[in-house]
Amino acid sequence: MAKVLIATEKPFAPAAVNEIKSVFEKANYEVILLEKYADQSDFIKAVKDVDALIIRSDNANREVIEAADNLKIIVRAGAGYDNIDLEAATEKGIVAMNTPGQNSNAVAELAVGMMVYLARNQFNGKAGTELKGKKIGIHAYGNVGKYVAQIAKGFGMEVYAFDPFIPKETIENDGVTALDSVEELYKTCQYISLHIPANEKTKESINYDLLKIMPLNATLVNTARKEVICEESLLKIFADRPDFKYISDIAPNCKDEIVEKFEGRYFFTPKKMGAQTSEANINAGIASANQIINFLEKDDTTFQVNK
Ligand code: 3PG
Repeated sequence: MAKVLIATEKPFAPAAVNEIKSVFEKANYEVILLEKYADQSDFIKAVKDVDALIIRSDNANREVIEAADNLKIIVRAGAGYDNIDLEAATEKGIVAMNTPGQNSNAVAELAVGMMVYLARNQFNGKAGTELKGKKIGIHAYGNVGKYVAQIAKGFGMEVYAFDPFIPKETIENDGVTALDSVEELYKTCQYISLHIPANEKTKESINYDLLKIMPLNATLVNTARKEVICEESLLKIFADRPDFKYISDIAPNCKDEIVEKFEGRYFFTPKKMGAQTSEANINAGIASANQIINFLEKDDTTFQVNK
């Protein structure tokens, strides 16, 4: 009987856990649940003899991978797999996968929801501003970016996008204006919504030079990863431009300084919660379970990210 560990420091919704368990039960797999663990050492211990692993933002680093004697597959129930040491996995012949698209709508709804929240002064009763008629730039037009574009159009926003990996006509078919450069996007749009992955190329790539060219009343919305922001630049732009606002799904490392100096111009979720909906957890969780079963039984490597 194959053993699967679901290691989620931030647990899936109970409905999702039940559905994941029932997929594995039908396939006659054993499921071990490790939720809200206090220490990385608990994760390292739990992974020892399992065949498959489902994680969220949990840190599947070299130590975890090396401690896993039987592990054949890791599925990141979500899009970003910057929390898996791919090199270590590949060295041990372990397949790593993500579940692209499964929680995209949840993340997109949070991005736009936070935009409304800050534009309305965190619902404090004072007159705020509307999203209608404002320009939003989607920085990377993947699954989440697409949903943000769709929702923003519903709000009556003018939607622009930049993505060097997606043909312009694909973007324009959605009624979104595709721009030729990242600079053009930042120069054009009062709102920028970030949807780039965190990797060696993108880390700290959102810097002062980009932020300074944003139009008046600029708002940067980050539901991607905090690592893509150059925090030195962030503090500088906050100080230089009293009109600049920053919204992020989880706080930057320099949170305390922002909180102390720039009241009313930021919003940070207390815990990463873009994908924290029952629907997203069910979608990503079931996709993970099916991907594991299909890999172990049919050698199906669709969605493998360490090929
Ligand atoms: C993702 O990459 O899919 C999101 O960041 C979700 O992360 P989470 O599973 O930790 O909520």
